[in-house]
Amino acid sequence: MKAASLSLYLTAARDIAREAGDLIRHHRAAGVDVRVKPADVRELVTTADEAADTLIRARLEELFPGHAVISEEGAEADPPLPDPETPTWIVDPLDGTSNFAHGLPTFSVSLGLWWRHRPWVGVVYEVVRGWLFWAAAGRGAWLDGRRLSVRRTETIAHAILATDWTHSPERRRLATRLFARFVLSGHTARSFGSAALGLSYVAAGWLDGYVNLGLSPWDAAAGTLLVQEAGGTVTTWDGTPWTPAHEVIVATNGSLHADVIALVQDHLEEAT
Ligand code: IPD
Ligand code: CA
Ligand code: CA
Repeated sequence: MKAASLSLYLTAARDIAREAGDLIRHHRAAGVDVRVKPADVRELVTTADEAADTLIRARLEELFPGHAVISEEGAEADPPLPDPETPTWIVDPLDGTSNFAHGLPTFSVSLGLWWRHRPWVGVVYEVVRGWLFWAAAGRGAWLDGRRLSVRRTETIAHAILATDWTHSPERRRLATRLFARFVLSGHTARSFGSAALGLSYVAAGWLDGYVNLGLSPWDAAAGTLLVQEAGGTVTTWDGTPWTPAHEVIVATNGSLHADVIALVQDHLEEAT
């Protein structure tokens, strides 16, 4: 990708994420309207999710008519995968809807640009704090004006690992037991309820690893680039690079990757 195009896409993504964040903040102040998605009683959606989705799509389609957009609230039940030859924006207009719907302040807007099997731009905007995590291929990962770098923790015993719970009961059981393993074998464990923020926090060096057993493409399309550009490693459960087709993500500081993969594999084998 040409450097000028990359700069253009990055600037647009940052502006759009901030604009969507302003809209979500406005909805939060005005009162949150929560509905349950027909597919699952645990899956919530609010007017803020939908309004942010509409805004982001409109901006991207206006600016980049030759690009494709895959977004959570604009997608079919089974999300399409990006066509590798078409630059594709993979968008979660509001990641952390359960937090948002219950008044918890931890949620984000996530935009990732994928083309030819890899991410080029990743932006995660933590709305309430006004923090913009961003990365562009070859240009590093940043939190606003501060360059990010993973923490060089060398052993799981010293690591803070995080995961989140998905909607499927089976995956929830698996994730719950995995969380227990993180607590028992690591320094401690965390769950923030926004996969995009979990990945951003690995990039920032605040977490040493983030694992999710049931992702959709938009949950990690941006965060994966943040972790990579901060010096970390992102794969699926078997150690092959994570792509939007994978439901399982393992993102670490790199030094811990083999150990975390071994722990996840051991866990999945034991559970089956
Ligand atoms: C959810 C969050 C959560 C993850 C779930 C996602 P949403 O996204 O990222 O951390 O575990 O799988 O569905 O529904 O709040 O956009
Ligand atoms: Ca999400
Ligand atoms: Ca969402």
